[in-house]
Amino acid sequence: MDLKSYLSEKKQLIEAFLESYYSAPFPPKILRESMVYSLSAGGKRVRPILCLAAYEACGGRVEDAVPQASAIELIHTYSLIHDDLPAMDNDDLRRGKPTNHKVFGEGIAVLAGDGLLTDAFCLFADRRFRRPVIADSAIAQCVCELAHAAGSQGMVGGQAQDLLSENSEPDPITLIFIHEHKTAALISVSVRIGAILAGADEEKLERLTRYGENIGLAFQVIDDILDVEGETEVIGKPKGSDEKKKKLTYPRLYGIEESRRKAKELIDASVSALSVFDGKAEPLRAVARYLYERRN
Ligand code: IPE
Ligand code: IPE
Ligand code: MG
Ligand code: MG
Ligand code: MG
Repeated sequence: MDLKSYLSEKKQLIEAFLESYYSAPFPPKILRESMVYSLSAGGKRVRPILCLAAYEACGGRVEDAVPQASAIELIHTYSLIHDDLPAMDNDDLRRGKPTNHKVFGEGIAVLAGDGLLTDAFCLFADRRFRRPVIADSAIAQCVCELAHAAGSQGMVGGQAQDLLSENSEPDPITLIFIHEHKTAALISVSVRIGAILAGADEEKLERLTRYGENIGLAFQVIDDILDVEGETEVIGKPKGSDEKKKKLTYPRLYGIEESRRKAKELIDASVSALSVFDGKAEPLRAVARYLYERRN
């Protein structure tokens, strides 16, 4: 399959939806500007694309799940705005542009994040954006899972441990806790949401969960590697940010080569989990391989 066109088509669907979702002005003007600034700065849109690819693998028609997939990108974008704040990673560049707080100030950046996070759930459950093929019960289950994955026992918990572990003795149990929570939780729930919205059976849901957990962890391992080996202009964020803050990362604990090997192992495990799926899961397989090779 032609992965490049697949990714760019799906990206377009998501970006068109997001643009129209925030097209109507509301006061205060600066808040909307700040939210739209980060949302439209680019980004790979990996999480909503995974959601759509899982929806498709379970027999759904991609167009029907675009609003719910896009809601996930609102949560992800909020997490990046807050992650970059001086009180967290204190970074100046994101998606190749000055970070939100550099442009709008810290107060508005905090609130832009709060707005995106909260709006995500409004959008996800909004009947105006729900295609009839999607069941009410599926929406309810997804809202609960999404909140859990993003919340204190998911991404927020991982981010808290990430902060607490700066300058700490490298320890593999804590490292895996951080990466599974701060990153893999949202990635894996994105895949599950696609499956749940499509009404997947238990076996498929279980397989896709395994797929999502494995690529989710691999995703952060590669992110850690790119922080060391990537180029600022290509990754769109400051290279060496982790080293500067003495973050607990895979390269710090295992070195680059062993980290790459571990990431490859996780990607292979994710593809194996898809063995019960037919050709409709080909995009999921291709995305997994792309996530290993990515340069940004
Ligand atoms: C960056 O995520 C934050 C992590 C969880 C590693 P992405 O690499 O998906 O960032 P964008 O959305 O493409 O900018
Ligand atoms: C952030 O991890 C994960 C999030 C939940 C945002 P990083 O701090 O490594 O992400 P980048 O490298 O700044 O994108
Ligand atoms: Mg961080
Ligand atoms: Mg960061
Ligand atoms: Mg990083």
